[in-house]
Amino acid sequence: MKTIFSGIQPSGTLTLGNYLGAMKHFVDLQEENNCYFCIVDEHAITVPQDRLKLRENIRSLAALYLASGINSDKSTLFIQSEVSAHTQLGWMLQSISYIGELERMTQFKDKANGKEAVSSSLLTYPPLMAADILLYKTDIVPVGDDQKQHLELTRNLAQRFNNKFNDIFTVPEISIPKVGARIMSLQEPTKKMSKSDENQKSSIFMLDDVKKIEKKIKSAVTDSEGIVSFDKENKPGISNLLTIHASCTGQTIEQLVTYYEGKGYGEFKQDTADAVINTLKPIQERYQELVNSHELDDILDKGAEKAEYSAAKMLVKAKKAMGLGRVKRKK
Ligand code: TYM
Repeated sequence: MKTIFSGIQPSGTLTLGNYLGAMKHFVDLQEENNCYFCIVDEHAITVPQDRLKLRENIRSLAALYLASGINSDKSTLFIQSEVSAHTQLGWMLQSISYIGELERMTQFKDKANGKEAVSSSLLTYPPLMAADILLYKTDIVPVGDDQKQHLELTRNLAQRFNNKFNDIFTVPEISIPKVGARIMSLQEPTKKMSKSDENQKSSIFMLDDVKKIEKKIKSAVTDSEGIVSFDKENKPGISNLLTIHASCTGQTIEQLVTYYEGKGYGEFKQDTADAVINTLKPIQERYQELVNSHELDDILDKGAEKAEYSAAKMLVKAKKAMGLGRVKRKK
């Protein structure tokens, strides 16, 4: 049995990219592994948030995890800020991180680009992410393609800590899905689909209704060739829709390409919209039952308690390795 950890930021409504690149795969993993799934609210505050909206997004994300199939009897679902070991170990790992390596993170560069006021936590975000992972002796971290660089840094920090102090951290492996690791914007298919895209037509949100999903897919940017084939370079729009269609239905891209031979984009887009709707509709229905329920609070309470128990043990080891605090003497 392996230990799995992954996190999602409650920084807006999740996109189809978050679902197909990450969340969908969590559900399968929980059958045979010891899984921790986290709502990383302390990561969300690295950029300005409205406090009421943040609270709403945290709850909404917890409900989406459960609605998409996370089973609280099998997995530990919790909120990062409810387990204080995360920020404590995050600080300790900052002290072995170099500013140069943090400044090289493309996510930092993208988010800081053009901003007048950039918070220091946007820079020190990766050591906190490393803390999330390392606290639980994580073997595997399932994420989308955009988290690769952060994962590399996590591995480096774990190794650096182990060499410098004591060999306490498991060096985690990254797991990226073969199809769906990078769902692209529907309007600019060379750019990643993102929660924070200002153009609402670029992203399908997990809570979008049927009409919106259809409209967004029908207005997705494609090309004038009229042939459904996979070519990321020359046909990024159609390739993205093929990826979405394949991820939602479980068919391979080759099967889809063969099926749509001689058929137009209109039919292909309608079927892709239907595939997305069939994927999201049952999740949305379950979400509505959960989002305001006491059950959700009970699950998060239980999750925080379980996570706290494991994280506290690792934090004690890390403090000891670094020489923080005192050695407890017997009275
Ligand atoms: P976040 O909240 O941006 O995204 C959550 C997950 O969704 C994946 N993802 C995508 N996958 C495919 N296509 C897309 N367009 C797309 N957009 C997002 C992300 O790769 C991610 O797996 N730093 C992380 C959160 C985090 C974390 C962690 C993850 C904090 N601590 C520990 C794993 C382990 C983030 O901002 O993800």
